Amino acid sequence: MSINYSEKIPNNVNLSEDRTLQRALEHWQPNYLQWWQDMGPDGSQNFDVYLRTAVSVDPQGWAQFGHVKMPDYRWGIFLNPAEQDRKIHFGDHIGEAAWQDVPGEHRANLRRIIVTQGDTEPASVEQQRHLGLTAPSQYDLRNLFQVNVEEGRHLWAMVYLLHKYFGKDGREEAEALLERNSGNADNPRILEAFNEKTPDWLSFFMFTYFTDRDGKFQLCALAESAFDPLARTTKFMLTEEAHHMFVGESGVGRVIQRTVDMMNQLKTDNVDKLRAAGVIDLPTIQRYLNFHFSVTIDLFGADQSSNAATFYSSGLKGRYEEGKRTDDHVLKGNVYKILAVENGSLVEKEVPMLNALNEVLRDDYIKDSVGGVERWNRIIEKAGIDFRLKVPHKAFHRNIGSLAGVKVSPDGRVVSDAEWSAKQGEWLPTEQDRAYVASLMGRVVEPGKFANWIAPPVMGINRQPVDFEYVRFN
Ligand SMILES: [Fe+2]
Ligand SMILES: [Fe+2]
Repeated sequence: MSINYSEKIPNNVNLSEDRTLQRALEHWQPNYLQWWQDMGPDGSQNFDVYLRTAVSVDPQGWAQFGHVKMPDYRWGIFLNPAEQDRKIHFGDHIGEAAWQDVPGEHRANLRRIIVTQGDTEPASVEQQRHLGLTAPSQYDLRNLFQVNVEEGRHLWAMVYLLHKYFGKDGREEAEALLERNSGNADNPRILEAFNEKTPDWLSFFMFTYFTDRDGKFQLCALAESAFDPLARTTKFMLTEEAHHMFVGESGVGRVIQRTVDMMNQLKTDNVDKLRAAGVIDLPTIQRYLNFHFSVTIDLFGADQSSNAATFYSSGLKGRYEEGKRTDDHVLKGNVYKILAVENGSLVEKEVPMLNALNEVLRDDYIKDSVGGVERWNRIIEKAGIDFRLKVPHKAFHRNIGSLAGVKVSPDGRVVSDAEWSAKQGEWLPTEQDRAYVASLMGRVVEPGKFANWIAPPVMGINRQPVDFEYVRFN
């Protein structure tokens, strides 16, 4: 099996037998490519990049490696194979057959869910578009581009659903996905975290660790959907998401490795001395972590949401690992604890679980994201250094739901405005932190060479050596 460059849109959805859909997608394709030229990786379109391309969903086909110029990448449409007689397994329609088409009464909500997911995919490409200019190595540059082309494919996945199942308004939404832009004052991306800048590689690694993991949880919840094509397409997207989180986890881990090595070499934890030596001090890494974690958990939405209840009860969006749970999967009468502020302190409050499903997903996410932080701590521990990274309290620096705007310290105390202003610079990246990290960024192009602030990876990609020529700059 190999990549067929004569095939315009590789797919496993019998595109050639659906002329109307094929025409609609072929009409959208040049606009997508124009967007990629305008908003995709900056100054890198002519590079040959060692990328993996999905040409089918089976184990041999989903990861084909080879050097390719990014605009020639084959963005395909792949759905996981259909499950025979799949049944809806949660909500009010439990036990009924899964939908192969969009039921009229759920059309508006499904479209909104698909558009919201779809909007995040090109947004992250836009956020990361300048990073290629300052990659710390060829290996990292290749990983950045891999993430970028796959987010592009995720956009294709959502656009396929819009074109195939939502008629004219689906086509209009597909165009609008290319018109909104991350951080654009007039026409921004839908979700706030996707309008933030990803200005440097530490931010990129934190983003792929924390924010791509939000993607994983959203996709997992959609993979349970009663709307079968959505479930099947998100299941396949999840196979790609794992690599994005790997890039983040191993990236931050390598930054930490380099820092603790330097701390031991210089026998110091003095921030100024470490910065003079060109590595990123651990307190700065903690502040970046606090920022990305808090901004990302906002993405799960308000802690109480009637939309979340509707999406669940009508079968549109399940919980993380819905099938592994042992309750009735209807949840009427169940309760869940959310946080609120009463008389100046945080208290737990019981609310109907159906209304708290955003919070349920957020809590599952938090449990999952702590694991990597513990693995980062083992690098510090192994180096014999008395410092531990920690995810901040769930209520820290929140901007959505009942905790929005409440001033809470990373350890979970409600603090006064005065304390917040005084301590903010210890808790979140300061202008100086960002300027320092920015000052380290500069492109390293020689195979096998790495910037001073990051350790090399243990292994290369696809069993290639670390000093493999992952990118040919031409
Ligand atoms: Fe994605
Ligand atoms: Fe991703």
